[in-house]
Amino acid sequence: MKLVFNKNNQAEIFFRPVLQNEKSILSLVNKESLVRLDKEKFQGKSGQVFVSHTTEQTIVLIGTGQKTKLSVEDCRIMAGQMVNYLHKYSAKNIGLVAKDWIKVNVLDLGQALAEGLSLASYSFEKYKKKDDSKIKVNIEEVLVELNTNQRNKFRKGWSKGLILAQGTNYARDLVNEPANIMTPTFLAKQALVLGKSNKNISVKVLDKAQVKKLGMNAFLGIDQGSIEPPKFIHLIYKPQKVKDKIALVGKGVTFDAGGLNIKPFEGMRQMKNDMSGAATVLGIFSVISELKPNREVHGIIAACENMPSGTAIKPGDVVKNMQGKSIEIKHTDAEGRVTLADSLAYAQAQGIKKIVDLATLTGAIMYALGTHYAGLFSNDHKLGKELLKEAELSGEKLWLMPLAEEYRELGKSEIADISNISSTRYGGAITAALFLEEFIEAGTIWAHLDIASPAYAETPLNSYTPIGGVGFGVRTILNWLVK
Ligand code: BES
Ligand code: ZN
Ligand code: ZN
Repeated sequence: MKLVFNKNNQAEIFFRPVLQNEKSILSLVNKESLVRLDKEKFQGKSGQVFVSHTTEQTIVLIGTGQKTKLSVEDCRIMAGQMVNYLHKYSAKNIGLVAKDWIKVNVLDLGQALAEGLSLASYSFEKYKKKDDSKIKVNIEEVLVELNTNQRNKFRKGWSKGLILAQGTNYARDLVNEPANIMTPTFLAKQALVLGKSNKNISVKVLDKAQVKKLGMNAFLGIDQGSIEPPKFIHLIYKPQKVKDKIALVGKGVTFDAGGLNIKPFEGMRQMKNDMSGAATVLGIFSVISELKPNREVHGIIAACENMPSGTAIKPGDVVKNMQGKSIEIKHTDAEGRVTLADSLAYAQAQGIKKIVDLATLTGAIMYALGTHYAGLFSNDHKLGKELLKEAELSGEKLWLMPLAEEYRELGKSEIADISNISSTRYGGAITAALFLEEFIEAGTIWAHLDIASPAYAETPLNSYTPIGGVGFGVRTILNWLVK
């Protein structure tokens, strides 16, 4: 997507957001359209669209509703709406005004528009027969009307937005890939490819024997029912100057059948997405060296399947993680936290004191927060606050949840150090987070994002997030890393 300034008259299709009852509405369309504007009662209400044509150009007015000013997220949403319009009307170059209707910082604006346009253009069609009759959205040029003194800032934001969207779309691809292709081996291969094509990134993939040697028997316990070999993936991004060391841990269950406590039809349907946390970590690594954060970033993924079989782990079994803590597996479908017990332990064994994990961990978080929000848990107020702020600016919905001390005893086991499920089904997202915290050592700062809801969109989450893998967290975490 090429960015061109002030050649708006050359745009095949031209978009103009209109605030509700904006005074200048009448000057935006030609005389012939004025009557129709009135007849269609276009007033700039949210969701209203008005289209007028000249021989050279299509003009689309997008109603933004009653707002005195537009937020960064409003701009991203509008960019998405423009792209969705292009499914009906094909155009290779589009124009938009960014001059007078925006009050947000022009760098943020450039970033939001680039993100909205390229995130909304995403589709996953590799398994579909090519249909030439379908209009394919392919924006080559974006013509933006903007004052000369603002262009540099806009361009800077624009480039950043394109990079963030690219990382997100890469993560979406990984999530959308079906589990017969997206095996632990395949996932590890993607990580190795990222390492090969990037001199700042090194990648280690540990096989089953190496994982066993390290004592990751919690991870291996979950894996043991599958015929797919497990892979433990460790990526390292090293900048020239290191300010900080951070581990990003992603849940990498490439298919969650539930194990012997097998899931019913409805529950198993989307379980190829149980590696979304891992996808987000790889999405971040796919573009991290273009953004050059001055932090050493470790990506850590324990990749396996959770399958029922004659070799599968059984309810009542006890396994130990690499810290030597014993876990009673009371429910084989609460597997993610068990694999994470080893991923978190491994991260800390690397001497890392700051960890953010992303995991499609519980159905309970979906009941708590609905389809759009991820839950945030943290043992560090400052880290939690930083992530909430970046999420807000990124348009990724994140909500603070409590690590409620009162519920910790619900995770006790009669025969092991801890049980992998709580004794009650209430507060399931919280008790899962408390389980993870048991593996966080003194002095480690940690945040956990339960992304079970927004990792996968059953219906579009908004104008720029279509059905399928969302790549949730890529933008928030990257924005946070470069701060
Ligand atoms: N992968 C699931 C959680 C999940 C549910 C992710 C829906 C995305 C959409 C997780 O491994 C799981 O099965 N959790 C159980 C835990 C329960 C057995 C304590 C759940 O939430 O039902
Ligand atoms: Zn499960
Ligand atoms: Zn799972």
